[in-house]
Amino acid sequence: MNTKRKIKGSNPPFVLVNMAMTADGKIATANRAVSSFGSARDHEHLLELRATADAVMAGARTVDSAPINLGPGPAKFRRLRLRRGLAEYNLRIIVSGSGLVNPKAEIFKHRFSPVIILTTGRASEAKLRHLRAVADEVKVFGRREINFRAALHWLREKWGVKRLLCEGGGELNDALFRAGLVDELHLSFCPKIFGGRRAPTIADGRGFGCLAAAARFRLKTIRRISDEMFAVFTSA
Ligand SMILES: NC(=O)c1ccc[n+]([C@@H]2O[C@H](COP(=O)([O-])OP(=O)(O)OC[C@H]3O[C@@H](n4cnc5c(N)ncnc54)[C@H](OP(=O)(O)O)[C@@H]3O)[C@@H](O)[C@H]2O)c1
Repeated sequence: MNTKRKIKGSNPPFVLVNMAMTADGKIATANRAVSSFGSARDHEHLLELRATADAVMAGARTVDSAPINLGPGPAKFRRLRLRRGLAEYNLRIIVSGSGLVNPKAEIFKHRFSPVIILTTGRASEAKLRHLRAVADEVKVFGRREINFRAALHWLREKWGVKRLLCEGGGELNDALFRAGLVDELHLSFCPKIFGGRRAPTIADGRGFGCLAAAARFRLKTIRRISDEMFAVFTSA
């Protein structure tokens, strides 16, 4: 059962998680050196999904780990967005409970749309000041862990986010799964094995302690394209 509930009368955004994983369920190598391993088709798929979302969100370690800007990409996707009635450029959201975000990260070099940082009471005043210097808005939700339910309602009300795409990493995904906020899970299965006990997966962090509590999904579609499989699961 989808546990998403209304608070204060407004609906939270529809949340999609999109991840590429190896055949052994890893999203990067154990040393984190490799995180981009899908085909060109998989990258196109990522941009296609971004072109359906008002906002794209990622965890601080993902934003730090590669030169990504979380934007819509080439003009054809921006035109698609406009035809769908979306803003030409999606909003971009970074999640960091401690406020430890690299101000020199690639994302801050591209000012095509607002960058919003969600953080917690753990971020010191000095860190908040630094973040405010590079982001368009910095908002605190929760004392130690982000209260995503409240954050999502705020994103809907303040920024008009109806459809939110989360692109990992594993720790952020895990928090969203635990909060029962993920409506749709898009997985690209890539024909590689990374192995490694410490290699991240699509849901790291704390996880669920027992089977009864596990997040449940139903398989909606699965497509094979060349050597990869593209699956969509919906919240059960
Ligand atoms: N294959 C793929 O599709 C894919 C996609 C994305 C990422 N990746 C890979 O995944 C790895 C990164 O994943 P990751 O799990 O280490 O990091 P992550 O989820 O990107 O970021 C983790 C950080 O986000 C913040 N955070 C997450 N949940 C939080 C919560 N509930 N409350 C407060 N803060 C929270 C914390 O920031 P603070 O520590 O600052 O508090 C935490 O350290 C990288 O190697 C990346 O390349 C792969």
